[in-house]
Amino acid sequence: MQLLLKNIKELVTVKSSGNACQSGEGMRDLGVLEHASVLIEDGVIRWVGPADSFTGSLDTEADLLDASSLVALPGFVDAHTHALFAGTREDEFALRCEGKTYQEIAARGGGILSTVAATRRATKKELKKLASKRLDAMMKHGTTTVEIKSGYGLEPDTEIKMLEAIAELADEHYMTIVATFLGAHALPPEYKERKNEYIDLVCERMLPYVAKRDLAQFCDVFCEVGYFSVEESRQILKKGLSLGLRPKLHADEFNSIGGTRLAAELHAASVDHLEHITEDGIRAISDSGTVAVVLPGVSFFLRNPYAPARRLLDAGVPVAIASDFNPGSCMSFSLPLMMTIACTQMSMTPEEAITAATLNGAAALGLSDKVGSIEVGKQADIILYEIPNYRYLAYHFGSNLVAKVIKKGTILEFP
Ligand code: NIG
Ligand code: FE
Repeated sequence: MQLLLKNIKELVTVKSSGNACQSGEGMRDLGVLEHASVLIEDGVIRWVGPADSFTGSLDTEADLLDASSLVALPGFVDAHTHALFAGTREDEFALRCEGKTYQEIAARGGGILSTVAATRRATKKELKKLASKRLDAMMKHGTTTVEIKSGYGLEPDTEIKMLEAIAELADEHYMTIVATFLGAHALPPEYKERKNEYIDLVCERMLPYVAKRDLAQFCDVFCEVGYFSVEESRQILKKGLSLGLRPKLHADEFNSIGGTRLAAELHAASVDHLEHITEDGIRAISDSGTVAVVLPGVSFFLRNPYAPARRLLDAGVPVAIASDFNPGSCMSFSLPLMMTIACTQMSMTPEEAITAATLNGAAALGLSDKVGSIEVGKQADIILYEIPNYRYLAYHFGSNLVAKVIKKGTILEFP
């Protein structure tokens, strides 16, 4: 099966230059080609270059797509979501509009625990149906790879129900899906005065089971005042590591308690949030190989400070942008919207924002050899936009500008 994207008006390759991710100046060099062609064979990119020097050989049944009015970018990689959940929290949103904070609402029994209650009640089938619709909508907005965390169960049965649902969706849906175990997302109410027992449950029962059944590639912890301390996070992440799950960490969202240093110490695949990262934290991750995942939608939605993306970038840290799509702190999965917020509120350039939402997102998932750029050998996940040029994408916010989604070489049709 061949598909030739012919004479693309502007092709943004986000060239990796052989690196897993880009940092510094490399994030601004998008490898843009005008009047370019891309040959896809069996879902994989086989040739990329100027249309007039196309040298690939075409079968007689090859499909041709005239892209002379379209801009092409790699499909977005959303490296941090909580997209599998039941119930919604618009009442909390209304309370925040009146001035209540996320932490105040959580302390009154709302927040993560209210989604935990709804998710525990839902069947696996119901959770899959809800998430599958969201995955369709994400794809329509240009996301072709997504990470989904567990963490709304906080008990073995529901955590496993969530991870099984994610695994089944990964088999059944077009989306490329990566699963993360987040059993330490919050302390479940039934362990209120028994935190150590819950941590033992996570380490001694849940993690070994998850690893044995290969239900997640990563282990994450919410390292925050009122959730899990640095020492507790270290214990959980190290146990995960010993079972083959790579660490990730929610750190510095509301308070800086040393999570970033822990992520650097463990060479975590990514450290996410960073709204309150300190200079010391920036120094710690600048040479750890850990990707800094910033979540502009969370600050926007919670009225929290923005992560200092500019300082991270200037320190040479590879930065990724993700949505953190979840019912509490960011009820949007639009990566172009997150890019607009990153540009206007965090002083990222449109070029840096594109690299952050593609190649560097892939690196945060250990997937940059497969997705995140339009290069020979990679999976053919390509989005075509009806826009004048790539800079228009973050500029024209609030509308979906996607013209066509190509996933593993197949042009998807949406109802
Ligand atoms: O990444 N910070 C912790 N977890 C999520 C919020 C989840 C929720 O409120 O349901 C986050 O923001
Ligand atoms: Fe999160």
